Amino acid sequence: MASAGTTTLVIFGASGDLTHRKLIPSLYNLYRKGRLDPELRIVGVSRRPMTDQEFRESLARQIGEIGEISLEPETWREFSSRVHYLAGDVGSLQDLESLQKSLSGLEEGSGLPANRLYYLALAPQLYEGAIVNLKQARMTDEAAGWRRVVVEKPFGTDLDSAKKLNQVVHAAFNESQVYRIDHYLGKETVQNLLVFRFANTIFEPIWSRNYIDHVQITVAENVSVEERGGYYDQAGVLRDMFQNHLIQLLTLVAMEPPATMDADTLRNEKVKVLNAVRRIQPSEALQHAVYAQYKGYCEEPGVAQDSKTPTYVALKLEVENWRWQGVPFYLRSGKAMEDKLTEIIIQFRRPPHQMFEQPMGGELPANILAIGIQPDEGVHLQFQAKVPDAGFELRPVDLEFHYQSAFAGQVIPDAYERLLLDALNGDASLFIRSDEIEQAWSIIDPFVAALNRPDAPSPVEYEHGSWGPPQADDFMHRDGRTWLTGVGQH
Ligand code: BG6
Repeated sequence: MASAGTTTLVIFGASGDLTHRKLIPSLYNLYRKGRLDPELRIVGVSRRPMTDQEFRESLARQIGEIGEISLEPETWREFSSRVHYLAGDVGSLQDLESLQKSLSGLEEGSGLPANRLYYLALAPQLYEGAIVNLKQARMTDEAAGWRRVVVEKPFGTDLDSAKKLNQVVHAAFNESQVYRIDHYLGKETVQNLLVFRFANTIFEPIWSRNYIDHVQITVAENVSVEERGGYYDQAGVLRDMFQNHLIQLLTLVAMEPPATMDADTLRNEKVKVLNAVRRIQPSEALQHAVYAQYKGYCEEPGVAQDSKTPTYVALKLEVENWRWQGVPFYLRSGKAMEDKLTEIIIQFRRPPHQMFEQPMGGELPANILAIGIQPDEGVHLQFQAKVPDAGFELRPVDLEFHYQSAFAGQVIPDAYERLLLDALNGDASLFIRSDEIEQAWSIIDPFVAALNRPDAPSPVEYEHGSWGPPQADDFMHRDGRTWLTGVGQH
């Protein structure tokens, strides 16, 4: 677990939300479970002057206010004694030079390599300056120990800006030192997709156009944009959710089996499948997508009154390779929907010959595999069974696996626990490589660009608390299909 030497995790943006909502609670949990190198030193950096003690107290207070985890006093005392604070502005070279001195001071004396993981929990417009200054202040120099950097999302706002940011990053770090986060990859059930596909023999032979009719990926949220209106109105659901989380889910469903879990082997396969996704032209977007906005969005704080930003999109992607030719991937995501639900549906082809008459006529329903990512984590396989004492009347039934019952008593950890540990241990498998992020942008950009065309229609409206606009249902019906919602849930 402990790497050779001592390690310091430096969190830039220490007074921001992410630090007290996710990073510190995850580190505390890892510590409590004995997963963290007990010698790990955590240093928070932000502009406001504070002592170590004040920083520790403010973290404990904020974590308490959120109330998602309760801090056990003795464990918190031990853990937080490893937490320090240094004031500094990442945009100022002078500040980083003095930070470099202070960090070296903390690290001195052990005679062991002094490793550092820099975590950029910053507003994205500060990434570039921070990375340039880290290099200038010689904080990327690996003479004293390894240096790694974690970059939060959003990584760019389109392909061009992502390329530019990658250039800035690569001028300071080697790609192997860079950990671009997509927290969906830290979710247990998302990782289980790899296990489900590649640690079982029964699904892989049918995992192709020969047996699969289409795939649906839904990431629905019941929350609205809340206090993030200013950011969200610039981003919209395509940049906020599709470019990262939905594309990652598609990749894991569609990729070829990698030979090993090694970071580059795995990511090579991911990049190959992204490369095979057909890029649409912005002029085609309306045949491939439905853009919608929840009623009342324009009244949210921080949102322009005449905003055309979509808060819901449903779109169709095609993966043009041997395995997936002709199998559409339907992706949808939105805010202010009926429920929080992330689910992947694999709908198989119908039986080629129908020998059981259906009472109401019509075709036999298709087999469905539903992978529940959240909130009910598990897998359902729907198939036809004979209704007892009713001739050959058939009804779909479920084979079910639920994490909650199969692994009763085991708490599913927050995604950040796994990702922080992996970054500290130098395993980049669950992080996004530079080419991967650029591929993902190049798939999503045309859908965004379509909104800026002179003939772009306004997004259609949908009710707060619905499953999206009726146009999204029509969109599926046009292909002779329907959205399947909540099949993988209890
Ligand atoms: C973030 C988006 O990346 O993911 C948010 O910026 C969204 O808008 C969140 O709410 C959803 O994450 P989760 O883990 O709650 O599904």
